Amino acid sequence: MPTHAGTPLIEASGLTRVYHRPRTSLTRPGEAVHALRGVSLTVRKGERYGIVGESGSGKSTLLRLLCALDRPTAGSIRFDGREIAGLPERRLRFLRQSLQIVFQDPMSSLDPRMRVRDLVAEPLVALGEPVGDRVTELLDAVGLPASAAGRYPHQFSGGQRQRIAIARALAPRPEVLVADEPVSALDVSVRGQILNLLADLVDELGLTLVFVSHDLSVVRHVCETVAVMNDGEIVETGAVDDVWAEPRHAYTRTLLRAVPTLEGFR
Ligand SMILES: Nc1ncnc2c1ncn2[C@@H]1O[C@H](COP(=O)(O)OP(=O)(O)O)[C@@H](O)[C@H]1O
Ligand SMILES: [Mg+2]
Repeated sequence: MPTHAGTPLIEASGLTRVYHRPRTSLTRPGEAVHALRGVSLTVRKGERYGIVGESGSGKSTLLRLLCALDRPTAGSIRFDGREIAGLPERRLRFLRQSLQIVFQDPMSSLDPRMRVRDLVAEPLVALGEPVGDRVTELLDAVGLPASAAGRYPHQFSGGQRQRIAIARALAPRPEVLVADEPVSALDVSVRGQILNLLADLVDELGLTLVFVSHDLSVVRHVCETVAVMNDGEIVETGAVDDVWAEPRHAYTRTLLRAVPTLEGFR
């Protein structure tokens, strides 16, 4: 396992994000939802960093901020030393190339009207980079036949669709892969395969991984470091094996008691 000795790649400091629910009365303002309450974290180059917490704890909000898909209410995010919080899209090209995302549900993240060839090539086209043989190469890397290129997402199973989403994310040769519950929407029988694929690719390509799950047993198989989130805060962080063996925070212990076993994972 790589050590944590790498240089900091993503440094978040004091991140808060307040959402405002739509107002339901003319006289009262919409209710404020404090999705993040001052989150700080450091992800180092080559690290596999897991974020775990139950539904509603703020995991997806945190990822959206780290990926500059949303802006924090307060706080700072540095990527490779550069502040990204609040940057306009035209100044985020370096991030769009260096960091790619795999979402929970490939059915909604993949445009059903596009062929696999175009879905996988799209990030390259968007960056104005040549496609060449990259689609075939990527399909092979995720265990799909070259013939998949001419087909549409609905012609595949859920697990295969997530393979397509992974191929697409890898297209621009990112340095960081971010995954938000990438197996939670999949059939239990294929979760292990997709996690193994992700772990193998991260290893082979030397990627930095930021991986979100509500399940610490899943995080433990893919990550070396974990941050435990509860109600918009990181309550515990450390080497995942240590947190697993000896959770310090009461909330982590509760999470651990709820852990199911993961079938099909080697
Ligand atoms: N766009 C939004 N508008 C209002 N509230 C939101 C929005 N997105 C998330 N929230 C709220 O923020 C909190 C954290 O949500 P989220 O980050 O999706 O958590 P998780 O991914 O851990 O399930 C929840 O209370 C959720 O209802
Ligand atoms: Mg979420």
